[in-house]
Amino acid sequence: MIRLDFSNILTEEIGHNGLSLIEIENEAKKSISLLSKKPYKELDFINLPFQDISQIKELAKKARDYEYFIVLGIGGSALGPRVLLEALSPFNNLRKKNRVFIYDNVDPATFKYIIEIIDLKKTLINVISKSGSTAETLASFLLFWRMIRDRKLDVRQHFIFTTDSEKGNLKMIAEEYEIPSLGIPKNVVGRYSVLTPVGLLLAEIIGIKSEELLEGAKEISERAYRENLNENPMAYLASCLYLMDKLKNRKVLVFLPYSDRLKTMSEWFCQLWAESLGKEGKGTTPYPSLGTTDQHSQLQLWMEGPEDKVILFVSVDNHGFQEEIPQEFHDIEGLRYLGGHTLEELINTEQLATEMALRMNKKPNMKIIIPKIDSFTIGQLFQFFQVTTAMAGLLYGVNPFNQPGVELGKRLTYGAMGKRGFETEGEEVKNYLKRERYMI
Ligand code: PA5
Repeated sequence: MIRLDFSNILTEEIGHNGLSLIEIENEAKKSISLLSKKPYKELDFINLPFQDISQIKELAKKARDYEYFIVLGIGGSALGPRVLLEALSPFNNLRKKNRVFIYDNVDPATFKYIIEIIDLKKTLINVISKSGSTAETLASFLLFWRMIRDRKLDVRQHFIFTTDSEKGNLKMIAEEYEIPSLGIPKNVVGRYSVLTPVGLLLAEIIGIKSEELLEGAKEISERAYRENLNENPMAYLASCLYLMDKLKNRKVLVFLPYSDRLKTMSEWFCQLWAESLGKEGKGTTPYPSLGTTDQHSQLQLWMEGPEDKVILFVSVDNHGFQEEIPQEFHDIEGLRYLGGHTLEELINTEQLATEMALRMNKKPNMKIIIPKIDSFTIGQLFQFFQVTTAMAGLLYGVNPFNQPGVELGKRLTYGAMGKRGFETEGEEVKNYLKRERYMI
Protein backbone atom coordinates (compact mmCIF):
# COMPACT_ATOMS: atom_id res chain seq x y z
CA MET A 1 0.00 0.00 0.00
CA ILE A 2 1.10 3.53 -0.76
CA ARG A 3 2.31 5.43 2.31
CA LEU A 4 2.18 9.15 2.88
CA ASP A 5 4.77 10.81 5.10
CA PHE A 6 3.55 14.26 6.06
CA SER A 7 5.91 14.87 9.00
CA ASN A 8 7.66 17.74 7.25
CA ILE A 9 4.51 19.74 7.03
CA LEU A 10 3.96 19.80 10.78
CA THR A 11 4.77 22.75 13.06
CA GLU A 12 7.10 20.63 15.20
CA GLU A 13 9.31 20.04 12.15
CA ILE A 14 9.18 23.32 10.24
CA GLY A 15 7.95 25.84 12.81
CA HIS A 16 5.64 28.67 11.78
CA ASN A 17 5.46 27.43 8.15
CA GLY A 18 3.82 24.23 9.36
CA LEU A 19 0.36 23.01 10.30
CA SER A 20 -0.88 21.36 13.47
CA LEU A 21 -1.98 17.74 13.42
CA ILE A 22 -5.37 18.74 14.77
CA GLU A 23 -6.12 21.15 11.96
CA ILE A 24 -4.97 18.63 9.34
CA GLU A 25 -7.12 15.88 10.83
CA ASN A 26 -10.18 18.09 11.13
CA GLU A 27 -10.00 19.05 7.48
CA ALA A 28 -9.27 15.44 6.47
CA LYS A 29 -12.43 14.31 8.28
CA LYS A 30 -14.35 17.03 6.50
CA SER A 31 -13.09 15.86 3.12
CA ILE A 32 -14.27 12.30 3.80
CA SER A 33 -17.66 13.46 4.95
CA LEU A 34 -18.04 15.66 1.84
CA LEU A 35 -17.02 12.78 -0.41
CA SER A 36 -19.41 10.40 1.32
CA LYS A 37 -22.33 12.57 0.29
CA LYS A 38 -21.36 11.75 -3.33
CA PRO A 39 -22.26 15.22 -4.54
CA TYR A 40 -21.20 14.59 -8.17
CA LYS A 41 -22.15 11.72 -10.44
CA GLU A 42 -18.63 11.98 -11.89
CA LEU A 43 -17.34 10.37 -8.68
CA ASP A 44 -18.22 7.16 -10.53
CA PHE A 45 -14.52 6.93 -11.39
CA ILE A 46 -14.12 5.43 -7.91
CA ASN A 47 -16.06 2.36 -9.11
CA LEU A 48 -13.89 1.76 -12.20
CA PRO A 49 -11.83 -1.02 -10.58
CA PHE A 50 -14.96 -3.17 -10.61
CA GLN A 51 -15.64 -2.89 -14.37
CA ASP A 52 -15.80 -5.75 -16.88
CA ILE A 53 -12.65 -5.71 -19.03
CA SER A 54 -13.40 -8.65 -21.34
CA GLN A 55 -14.11 -6.50 -24.41
CA ILE A 56 -10.88 -4.54 -23.92
CA LYS A 57 -8.91 -7.78 -23.70
CA GLU A 58 -10.61 -9.14 -26.79
CA LEU A 59 -9.74 -6.08 -28.90
CA ALA A 60 -6.22 -5.90 -27.48
CA LYS A 61 -5.56 -9.47 -28.59
CA LYS A 62 -6.20 -8.46 -32.22
CA ALA A 63 -4.42 -5.14 -31.81
CA ARG A 64 -1.19 -6.87 -30.81
CA ASP A 65 -0.88 -8.20 -34.37
CA TYR A 66 -0.17 -4.70 -35.66
CA GLU A 67 3.34 -3.39 -35.66
CA TYR A 68 2.37 0.23 -35.03
CA PHE A 69 -0.23 1.50 -32.61
CA ILE A 70 -1.08 5.19 -32.72
CA VAL A 71 -3.09 6.96 -30.07
CA LEU A 72 -4.85 10.14 -31.18
CA GLY A 73 -6.14 12.09 -28.18
CA ILE A 74 -5.30 15.06 -25.99
CA GLY A 75 -5.48 16.07 -22.33
CA GLY A 76 -7.07 13.32 -20.29
CA SER A 77 -7.26 11.20 -23.41
CA ALA A 78 -3.49 11.15 -23.91
CA LEU A 79 -1.65 11.82 -20.65
CA GLY A 80 -2.80 8.67 -18.83
CA PRO A 81 -1.83 6.41 -21.75
CA ARG A 82 1.54 8.15 -21.85
CA VAL A 83 2.16 7.41 -18.17
CA LEU A 84 1.36 3.74 -18.71
CA LEU A 85 3.72 3.55 -21.65
CA GLU A 86 6.64 5.27 -19.97
CA ALA A 87 6.22 3.80 -16.49
CA LEU A 88 5.50 0.23 -17.45
CA SER A 89 7.21 -0.17 -20.80
CA PRO A 90 10.08 2.33 -20.86
CA PHE A 91 11.88 2.71 -24.20
CA ASN A 92 9.03 0.64 -25.62
CA ASN A 93 9.71 1.44 -29.25
CA LEU A 94 13.35 0.48 -29.04
CA ARG A 95 12.74 -2.74 -27.18
CA LYS A 96 9.47 -4.15 -28.41
CA LYS A 97 7.72 -5.29 -31.56
CA ASN A 98 4.57 -3.18 -31.06
CA ARG A 99 5.67 0.38 -31.51
CA VAL A 100 3.47 3.03 -29.94
CA PHE A 101 3.05 6.70 -30.82
CA ILE A 102 0.89 9.08 -28.85
CA TYR A 103 0.06 11.97 -31.11
CA ASP A 104 -1.67 14.64 -29.06
CA ASN A 105 -0.57 18.09 -30.09
CA VAL A 106 -1.44 18.55 -33.76
CA ASP A 107 2.13 19.63 -34.32
CA PRO A 108 2.63 19.23 -38.08
CA ALA A 109 6.28 18.28 -37.71
CA THR A 110 5.52 15.48 -35.23
CA PHE A 111 2.84 14.23 -37.60
CA LYS A 112 5.29 14.16 -40.49
CA TYR A 113 7.90 12.23 -38.48
CA ILE A 114 5.37 9.63 -37.38
CA ILE A 115 4.14 9.16 -40.94
CA GLU A 116 7.70 8.68 -42.13
CA ILE A 117 8.29 5.93 -39.58
CA ILE A 118 5.12 3.88 -39.78
CA ASP A 119 3.76 1.56 -42.42
CA LEU A 120 0.02 2.26 -42.64
CA LYS A 121 -0.77 -1.32 -43.63
CA LYS A 122 0.63 -2.48 -40.29
CA THR A 123 -0.89 0.34 -38.25
CA LEU A 124 -3.81 0.45 -35.87
CA ILE A 125 -5.10 3.88 -34.87
CA ASN A 126 -6.90 4.37 -31.58
CA VAL A 127 -8.89 7.60 -31.67
CA ILE A 128 -9.63 8.59 -28.07
CA SER A 129 -12.07 11.37 -27.33
CA LYS A 130 -14.74 11.29 -24.65
CA SER A 131 -16.71 14.11 -26.24
CA GLY A 132 -15.94 13.13 -29.80
CA SER A 133 -15.67 16.82 -30.62
CA THR A 134 -12.13 17.89 -29.70
CA ALA A 135 -10.63 19.84 -32.61
CA GLU A 136 -7.08 18.52 -32.24
CA THR A 137 -8.10 14.88 -32.07
CA LEU A 138 -10.63 15.14 -34.88
CA ALA A 139 -8.18 16.93 -37.15
CA SER A 140 -5.59 14.20 -36.75
CA PHE A 141 -8.31 11.56 -37.12
CA LEU A 142 -9.33 13.13 -40.46
CA LEU A 143 -5.77 13.01 -41.71
CA PHE A 144 -5.38 9.33 -40.88
CA TRP A 145 -8.87 8.52 -42.18
CA ARG A 146 -8.04 10.05 -45.55
CA MET A 147 -4.70 8.25 -45.75
CA ILE A 148 -6.22 4.88 -44.90
CA ARG A 149 -8.95 5.33 -47.48
CA ASP A 150 -6.57 6.66 -50.17
CA ARG A 151 -4.55 3.47 -49.78
CA LYS A 152 -7.73 1.41 -50.19
CA LEU A 153 -7.31 -0.07 -46.74
CA ASP A 154 -10.30 -1.18 -44.71
CA VAL A 155 -11.12 1.43 -42.04
CA ARG A 156 -12.60 -1.33 -39.86
CA GLN A 157 -9.20 -2.97 -39.72
CA HIS A 158 -7.22 0.16 -38.95
CA PHE A 159 -9.25 2.14 -36.45
CA ILE A 160 -10.51 1.61 -32.92
CA PHE A 161 -12.52 4.38 -31.31
CA THR A 162 -12.60 5.02 -27.58
CA THR A 163 -15.38 7.45 -26.89
CA ASP A 164 -18.49 8.21 -24.85
CA SER A 165 -20.53 5.05 -24.61
CA GLU A 166 -23.73 6.90 -25.48
CA LYS A 167 -23.18 9.84 -27.82
CA GLY A 168 -20.91 12.01 -29.99
CA ASN A 169 -19.43 12.24 -33.49
CA LEU A 170 -17.12 9.27 -33.07
CA LYS A 171 -19.94 7.09 -31.82
CA MET A 172 -21.96 8.02 -34.92
CA ILE A 173 -19.08 7.30 -37.30
CA ALA A 174 -18.34 4.02 -35.53
CA GLU A 175 -21.90 2.89 -36.06
CA GLU A 176 -22.02 3.91 -39.70
CA TYR A 177 -18.65 2.41 -40.69
CA GLU A 178 -18.64 -0.51 -38.25
CA ILE A 179 -15.48 0.67 -36.55
CA PRO A 180 -14.66 -1.37 -33.43
CA SER A 181 -15.14 0.86 -30.43
CA LEU A 182 -14.83 0.91 -26.68
CA GLY A 183 -17.03 2.99 -24.41
CA ILE A 184 -15.96 5.49 -21.78
CA PRO A 185 -18.63 5.42 -19.05
CA LYS A 186 -20.79 8.50 -19.37
CA ASN A 187 -20.05 9.82 -15.88
CA VAL A 188 -16.27 9.52 -16.11
CA VAL A 189 -14.59 12.71 -17.33
CA GLY A 190 -11.36 12.90 -19.34
CA ARG A 191 -8.73 13.47 -16.68
CA TYR A 192 -10.21 10.75 -14.44
CA SER A 193 -10.46 8.23 -17.28
CA VAL A 194 -7.09 6.49 -17.41
CA LEU A 195 -8.59 3.37 -15.80
CA THR A 196 -11.22 3.05 -18.54
CA PRO A 197 -10.44 1.75 -22.07
CA VAL A 198 -8.60 5.08 -22.52
CA GLY A 199 -5.62 3.59 -20.70
CA LEU A 200 -6.46 -0.08 -20.42
CA LEU A 201 -6.40 -0.90 -24.14
CA LEU A 202 -2.90 0.48 -24.55
CA ALA A 203 -1.85 -1.25 -21.34
CA GLU A 204 -2.93 -4.61 -22.70
CA ILE A 205 -1.24 -3.96 -26.04
CA ILE A 206 2.12 -3.31 -24.40
CA GLY A 207 1.76 -6.44 -22.30
CA ILE A 208 0.37 -5.04 -19.06
CA LYS A 209 -2.48 -6.91 -17.39
CA SER A 210 -5.20 -4.37 -16.86
CA GLU A 211 -6.62 -6.44 -14.00
CA GLU A 212 -3.41 -5.71 -12.07
CA LEU A 213 -3.81 -1.97 -12.61
CA LEU A 214 -7.40 -2.25 -11.44
CA GLU A 215 -6.44 -4.40 -8.47
CA GLY A 216 -4.11 -1.63 -7.28
CA ALA A 217 -6.77 1.02 -7.84
CA LYS A 218 -9.29 -1.11 -5.97
CA GLU A 219 -7.34 -0.85 -2.72
CA ILE A 220 -7.65 2.91 -2.96
CA SER A 221 -11.31 2.88 -3.97
CA GLU A 222 -12.10 0.71 -0.97
CA ARG A 223 -10.45 3.23 1.33
CA ALA A 224 -11.78 6.41 -0.23
CA TYR A 225 -14.82 6.69 2.03
CA ARG A 226 -13.24 5.22 5.19
CA GLU A 227 -13.65 7.44 8.19
CA ASN A 228 -10.74 5.90 10.06
CA LEU A 229 -8.08 8.40 9.07
CA ASN A 230 -5.29 5.85 9.39
CA GLU A 231 -6.77 4.04 6.42
CA ASN A 232 -7.34 7.12 4.30
CA PRO A 233 -4.07 8.79 3.26
CA MET A 234 -5.88 10.58 0.41
CA ALA A 235 -7.86 12.60 2.95
CA TYR A 236 -4.63 13.61 4.71
CA LEU A 237 -3.00 14.69 1.48
CA ALA A 238 -6.02 16.65 0.29
CA SER A 239 -6.28 18.33 3.68
CA CYS A 240 -2.55 19.23 3.91
CA LEU A 241 -2.45 20.72 0.41
CA TYR A 242 -5.67 22.63 0.91
CA LEU A 243 -4.57 24.05 4.26
CA MET A 244 -1.12 24.94 2.95
CA ASP A 245 -2.91 27.14 0.44
CA LYS A 246 -5.59 28.56 2.71
CA LEU A 247 -3.57 29.10 5.90
CA LYS A 248 -0.02 29.49 4.62
CA ASN A 249 -0.61 31.01 1.21
CA ARG A 250 1.43 28.26 -0.48
CA LYS A 251 0.12 28.46 -4.05
CA VAL A 252 2.62 26.30 -5.91
CA LEU A 253 2.65 22.53 -5.69
CA VAL A 254 5.81 20.87 -6.95
CA PHE A 255 5.24 17.24 -7.94
CA LEU A 256 8.60 15.56 -7.62
CA PRO A 257 8.99 11.84 -8.35
CA TYR A 258 12.44 10.28 -8.07
CA SER A 259 12.18 7.98 -11.06
CA ASP A 260 12.38 8.59 -14.79
CA ARG A 261 9.53 6.15 -15.16
CA LEU A 262 7.26 8.54 -13.26
CA LYS A 263 8.26 11.65 -15.17
CA THR A 264 5.11 11.63 -17.28
CA MET A 265 3.06 11.03 -14.16
CA SER A 266 4.13 14.56 -13.19
CA GLU A 267 2.45 15.85 -16.34
CA TRP A 268 -0.63 13.71 -15.81
CA PHE A 269 -0.95 14.82 -12.18
CA CYS A 270 -0.49 18.49 -13.07
CA GLN A 271 -3.33 18.36 -15.59
CA LEU A 272 -5.56 16.59 -13.07
CA TRP A 273 -4.81 19.11 -10.32
CA ALA A 274 -4.90 22.26 -12.46
CA GLU A 275 -8.02 21.53 -14.49
CA SER A 276 -9.94 20.14 -11.53
CA LEU A 277 -9.25 22.87 -8.98
CA GLY A 278 -8.31 26.03 -10.84
CA LYS A 279 -11.64 27.85 -10.89
CA GLU A 280 -13.57 30.60 -9.13
CA GLY A 281 -10.26 32.24 -8.18
CA LYS A 282 -9.25 29.09 -6.27
CA GLY A 283 -6.69 26.33 -6.71
CA THR A 284 -2.92 26.08 -6.64
CA THR A 285 -0.43 25.87 -9.49
CA PRO A 286 1.07 22.41 -9.95
CA TYR A 287 4.62 22.25 -11.22
CA PRO A 288 5.81 19.05 -12.95
CA SER A 289 9.25 18.11 -11.81
CA LEU A 290 11.74 15.22 -11.64
CA GLY A 291 14.36 14.13 -9.14
CA THR A 292 17.32 14.09 -9.18
CA THR A 293 17.36 16.14 -12.39
CA ASP A 294 15.64 19.22 -10.98
CA GLN A 295 18.01 19.39 -8.03
CA HIS A 296 20.32 20.83 -10.67
CA SER A 297 17.68 23.14 -12.05
CA GLN A 298 14.92 24.17 -9.62
CA LEU A 299 16.10 23.32 -6.12
CA GLN A 300 17.84 26.65 -5.60
CA LEU A 301 14.48 28.37 -6.12
CA TRP A 302 12.67 26.00 -3.78
CA MET A 303 15.28 26.50 -1.05
CA GLU A 304 15.73 30.25 -1.21
CA GLY A 305 13.07 31.66 -3.52
CA PRO A 306 9.60 32.93 -2.60
CA GLU A 307 7.80 31.25 0.31
CA ASP A 308 4.98 29.97 -1.87
CA LYS A 309 5.63 26.27 -2.46
CA VAL A 310 4.87 22.82 -1.16
CA ILE A 311 7.04 19.99 -2.44
CA LEU A 312 5.43 16.59 -2.95
CA PHE A 313 8.05 13.85 -3.33
CA VAL A 314 7.25 10.45 -4.77
CA SER A 315 9.91 7.99 -3.74
CA VAL A 316 10.37 4.39 -4.86
CA ASP A 317 11.82 1.92 -2.33
CA ASN A 318 12.96 -0.64 -4.85
CA HIS A 319 13.79 0.42 -8.41
CA GLY A 320 14.23 -3.21 -9.46
CA PHE A 321 17.85 -2.97 -10.62
CA GLN A 322 20.88 -3.21 -8.36
CA GLU A 323 23.57 -1.63 -10.51
CA GLU A 324 26.70 -1.32 -8.39
CA ILE A 325 28.95 1.67 -9.01
CA PRO A 326 32.49 0.37 -9.67
CA GLN A 327 35.28 1.01 -7.18
CA GLU A 328 37.93 2.85 -9.20
CA PHE A 329 40.27 5.82 -8.73
CA HIS A 330 40.95 5.10 -5.04
CA ASP A 331 43.18 8.16 -4.76
CA ILE A 332 40.57 10.64 -5.95
CA GLU A 333 38.06 11.19 -3.16
CA GLY A 334 35.57 12.81 -5.58
CA LEU A 335 35.12 9.39 -7.25
CA ARG A 336 36.25 6.95 -4.54
CA TYR A 337 33.29 7.49 -2.19
CA LEU A 338 30.77 6.47 -4.87
CA GLY A 339 32.33 3.04 -5.46
CA GLY A 340 30.49 0.07 -3.96
CA HIS A 341 27.17 1.86 -3.65
CA THR A 342 24.32 1.16 -6.05
CA LEU A 343 22.55 3.65 -8.34
CA GLU A 344 19.40 2.94 -6.34
CA GLU A 345 21.18 3.96 -3.14
CA LEU A 346 22.34 7.16 -4.79
CA ILE A 347 18.97 8.25 -6.20
CA ASN A 348 17.17 7.42 -2.95
CA THR A 349 19.85 9.10 -0.83
CA GLU A 350 19.54 12.23 -2.94
CA GLN A 351 15.81 12.21 -2.40
CA LEU A 352 16.35 11.90 1.34
CA ALA A 353 19.01 14.61 1.39
CA THR A 354 16.77 17.01 -0.56
CA GLU A 355 13.86 16.36 1.77
CA MET A 356 16.10 16.98 4.80
CA ALA A 357 17.59 20.12 3.29
CA LEU A 358 14.13 21.52 2.65
CA ARG A 359 13.06 20.65 6.17
CA MET A 360 16.17 22.29 7.61
CA ASN A 361 15.20 25.42 5.67
CA LYS A 362 11.64 25.14 7.05
CA LYS A 363 10.12 24.41 3.64
CA PRO A 364 6.93 22.32 3.73
CA ASN A 365 7.32 19.00 1.98
CA MET A 366 5.60 15.63 1.93
CA LYS A 367 6.46 12.24 0.56
CA ILE A 368 4.50 9.47 -1.09
CA ILE A 369 6.35 6.19 -0.86
CA ILE A 370 5.72 3.23 -3.13
CA PRO A 371 7.50 -0.11 -2.75
CA LYS A 372 8.25 -0.47 -6.47
CA ILE A 373 6.92 0.48 -9.91
CA ASP A 374 4.64 -2.14 -11.39
CA SER A 375 1.13 -2.29 -12.76
CA PHE A 376 -0.34 -2.70 -9.28
CA THR A 377 1.39 0.37 -7.80
CA ILE A 378 0.73 2.48 -10.91
CA GLY A 379 -2.97 1.61 -10.64
CA GLN A 380 -2.80 2.63 -6.99
CA LEU A 381 -1.08 5.92 -7.74
CA PHE A 382 -3.63 6.86 -10.40
CA GLN A 383 -6.55 6.25 -8.10
CA PHE A 384 -4.76 7.77 -5.11
CA PHE A 385 -4.25 11.10 -6.89
CA GLN A 386 -7.70 11.06 -8.47
CA VAL A 387 -9.41 10.58 -5.10
CA THR A 388 -7.13 13.17 -3.46
CA THR A 389 -7.92 15.72 -6.18
CA ALA A 390 -11.66 15.14 -5.92
CA MET A 391 -11.44 15.55 -2.14
CA ALA A 392 -9.43 18.76 -2.51
CA GLY A 393 -12.09 20.06 -4.90
CA LEU A 394 -14.77 19.41 -2.30
CA LEU A 395 -12.74 21.24 0.34
CA TYR A 396 -12.33 24.23 -1.97
CA GLY A 397 -16.03 24.09 -2.74
CA VAL A 398 -15.48 23.85 -6.51
CA ASN A 399 -16.69 21.26 -8.98
CA PRO A 400 -13.56 19.15 -9.63
CA PHE A 401 -15.03 17.63 -12.78
CA ASN A 402 -15.77 20.55 -15.09
CA GLN A 403 -13.47 22.96 -16.94
CA PRO A 404 -15.56 26.01 -17.87
CA GLY A 405 -12.43 28.11 -18.33
CA VAL A 406 -11.30 26.24 -21.44
CA GLU A 407 -14.51 26.86 -23.38
CA LEU A 408 -13.84 30.43 -24.51
CA GLY A 409 -10.57 29.54 -26.25
CA LYS A 410 -12.28 26.60 -27.93
CA ARG A 411 -15.11 28.80 -29.19
CA LEU A 412 -12.70 31.38 -30.59
CA THR A 413 -10.80 28.59 -32.37
CA TYR A 414 -14.06 27.29 -33.82
CA GLY A 415 -14.93 30.81 -34.98
CA ALA A 416 -11.53 31.38 -36.57
CA MET A 417 -11.66 27.97 -38.28
CA GLY A 418 -15.15 28.63 -39.64
CA LYS A 419 -17.32 26.25 -37.62
CA ARG A 420 -21.01 26.96 -38.13
CA GLY A 421 -22.68 28.61 -35.14
CA PHE A 422 -19.50 30.43 -34.07
CA GLU A 423 -19.67 33.37 -36.50
CA THR A 424 -19.59 35.97 -33.69
CA GLU A 425 -16.42 34.46 -32.30
CA GLY A 426 -14.97 34.44 -35.82
CA GLU A 427 -15.65 38.19 -36.05
CA GLU A 428 -14.03 38.74 -32.66
CA VAL A 429 -10.87 37.03 -33.89
CA LYS A 430 -10.80 39.19 -37.03
CA ASN A 431 -11.26 42.36 -34.97
CA TYR A 432 -8.57 41.29 -32.56
CA LEU A 433 -6.12 40.82 -35.41
CA LYS A 434 -6.91 44.31 -36.71
CA ARG A 435 -6.06 45.97 -33.40
CA GLU A 436 -2.95 48.03 -33.16
CA ARG A 437 -0.12 46.02 -31.59
CA TYR A 438 2.76 47.26 -29.50
CA MET A 439 5.64 45.29 -30.86
CA ILE A 440 9.32 45.94 -31.38
O1 PA5 B 1 -10.16 16.29 -18.41
C1 PA5 B 1 -10.78 16.62 -19.40
O2 PA5 B 1 -12.01 16.48 -19.48
C2 PA5 B 1 -10.08 17.22 -20.60
O3 PA5 B 1 -8.73 17.44 -20.36
C3 PA5 B 1 -10.21 16.26 -21.79
O4 PA5 B 1 -9.62 15.04 -21.50
C4 PA5 B 1 -9.61 16.85 -23.06
O5 PA5 B 1 -10.11 18.13 -23.30
C5 PA5 B 1 -9.92 15.95 -24.26
O6 PA5 B 1 -11.29 15.77 -24.34
P1 PA5 B 1 -11.93 14.62 -25.19
O7 PA5 B 1 -11.54 13.31 -24.58
O8 PA5 B 1 -13.40 14.86 -25.10
O9 PA5 B 1 -11.43 14.75 -26.59
